[in-house]
Amino acid sequence: MTKVIKSFDEYKEVYQRSVEDPEGFWAEQAETFTWQKKWDKVVEWDFHNLDVKWFVNGKMNITENCLDRHLADRGDQTAILWEANDPKAPNKTYTYRQLYEAVNRTANALKANGIQKGDRVCFYMPMVPELAIAVLACARIGAVHSVVFAGFSASALADRIKDSECKMVICSDFNDRGAKHIPVKAVVDEAIALGCDSVKTVLVHQSTGDPLAFNSAIDKWWHEEVDHQSAECPAEQMDAEDMLFILYTSGSTGKPKGVVHTCGGYMVYTAYSFKNVFQYDDGDIYWCTADIGWITGHSYIVYGPLLAGATTVMFEGVPTYPDAARFWQTIEKLKVTHFYTAPTAIRALMAMGDQYTEGHDFSSLKVLGSVGEPINEEAWHWYQDKIGGGKLPIADTWWQTETGGILITPLAGVTPTIPSYATFPMPGVQPCLVDTNGVELEGDNVEGMLCIKYPWPSIIRTTYGDHERCKQTYFSTFPGKYFTGDGARRDHDGMYRIIGRVDDVINVSGHRIGTAEVENAINQHPQVVESAVVGYPHDIKGQGIYAYVIATGVISDEQQFIKEVLAVVTKVIGPIAKPDKIQVVTGLPKTRSGKIMRRILRKVAAGETDSLGDTSTLLNPEIVEEIKTGAK
Ligand code: PRX
Repeated sequence: MTKVIKSFDEYKEVYQRSVEDPEGFWAEQAETFTWQKKWDKVVEWDFHNLDVKWFVNGKMNITENCLDRHLADRGDQTAILWEANDPKAPNKTYTYRQLYEAVNRTANALKANGIQKGDRVCFYMPMVPELAIAVLACARIGAVHSVVFAGFSASALADRIKDSECKMVICSDFNDRGAKHIPVKAVVDEAIALGCDSVKTVLVHQSTGDPLAFNSAIDKWWHEEVDHQSAECPAEQMDAEDMLFILYTSGSTGKPKGVVHTCGGYMVYTAYSFKNVFQYDDGDIYWCTADIGWITGHSYIVYGPLLAGATTVMFEGVPTYPDAARFWQTIEKLKVTHFYTAPTAIRALMAMGDQYTEGHDFSSLKVLGSVGEPINEEAWHWYQDKIGGGKLPIADTWWQTETGGILITPLAGVTPTIPSYATFPMPGVQPCLVDTNGVELEGDNVEGMLCIKYPWPSIIRTTYGDHERCKQTYFSTFPGKYFTGDGARRDHDGMYRIIGRVDDVINVSGHRIGTAEVENAINQHPQVVESAVVGYPHDIKGQGIYAYVIATGVISDEQQFIKEVLAVVTKVIGPIAKPDKIQVVTGLPKTRSGKIMRRILRKVAAGETDSLGDTSTLLNPEIVEEIKTGAK
């Protein structure tokens, strides 16, 4: 590994160099990995036609760098430290050697079941170690993993399986999560019944051992397929630009898209960012509380930490089970040094009262992290005071599924922090702010739309099966630049503060949800004519979901109707997309060309009805009064 940045002056120096000589900078980072064949050229890129290649013609396998490379020096060090949902259950650990063997066995089992390089494998699995193991097993043999968060519905799972024509689904039998007992495999069965014809095998890991329906035509038990396999499986030679994984994420229009990341660049960037942002030292215990179903889990539970030879904690449960002290007890019990979580969790736990944090030993902690949504000042201070003893650095990390890794962030304890600021770009990352005409805003104290004007190694390469959509979504709004969809401010010191999405994407409890997706789901209720969904400020979740719904005829029992609409959304997407508020209306404010005036709906949802602006040019100005009066 190249040298980790250790001072603010060094940061400034390295940043400057990364802009003046990006190829030299990234070559230096990449040289520290095991390559089967070195690259011919560091980067080739064209944002206009969207063609980005890093480490051109380099050959490698990411798992050799996560596992094989560490065997000599840290074979006996814990790689994965697993904390079960039940706090009384023993921790499971995998040393680097044990993880190497488990991954190889699983890789051999995948091969024995006909999985080859390039095949897509879908995961629908809770946070058990086997999820990380099988993800790495895919990477070992060059299969492409597509992890679907196990809170999505059968219908959402089926859409994702079909879009990337997955040949296998890997799941658990059941999952104990908090006080819930979740029938995971049954959801997969339901998804398969929705016509996922590409799936030839469902590999079922026995997590709880409860009885379940087993279809011997396609279902296979993990233990029967994996346990007897050899613990050696040669790593497939991958081109740096071969696909590593697909991860579906929501946008402002249409169905979720499969964000594609490739092997070489993703490896270099996740390891580089992990080391520098978290300043991880040997012997540290790093815990990221995300789920591997999201990008944070991919990059900063699995790949980044393992590439860096770290000990990474995987937590099966939820922050409030058995009570709201669970995170804090676990930090104490596992002697966690690095704790990385989402503002929504901090706000929820803060609201529970200080009795849950008091009396816990946080002396092991060195670094705190935040991810997924803007962190408000109150939560930032509470986090630092109550958990960080008033002194620990907080890395407020800004990034996205599409960026693969953290782009704007403090380097913990090295560069300055200000509450609610993501602060400075990582060396190698060149952000800029533009106005609505795409003109770059120079200087400081400016606010605009956040773009990145030079590629970094883990930038999105395409959206699966639809390259044009990727080009349109991210590279056409401001030609020549990657557009993030976020608005941001740059202050007098050049520090960035992320304001939030400027498109029709809402961020609910750190989960990204497209308003169009929720509308499509609501519209599947037979009595719904039309709907409009917007985000509104929510104390705990950051943003809540507010749905305006036009129904056919007269709704005699509004409560019942709302219940049914919520049930439809749960069925089509999953409980995470359920609106917090539903208002039944007789019309929606529209422009003369028939476009819904979302600005008005957002204001009403936020309770800002005094500042609606001029509504007289609407096609139906009278509807505004009705909506205001009926607002929840
Ligand atoms: O709006 C930004 C917000 O989360 C979006 C990306 O969501 P997703 O792809 O699901 O990835 C989340 C985990 C990286 C961004 O467009 N976001 C993420 N981190 C921050 C943030 N907003 C403010 N501050 C952050 N630190």
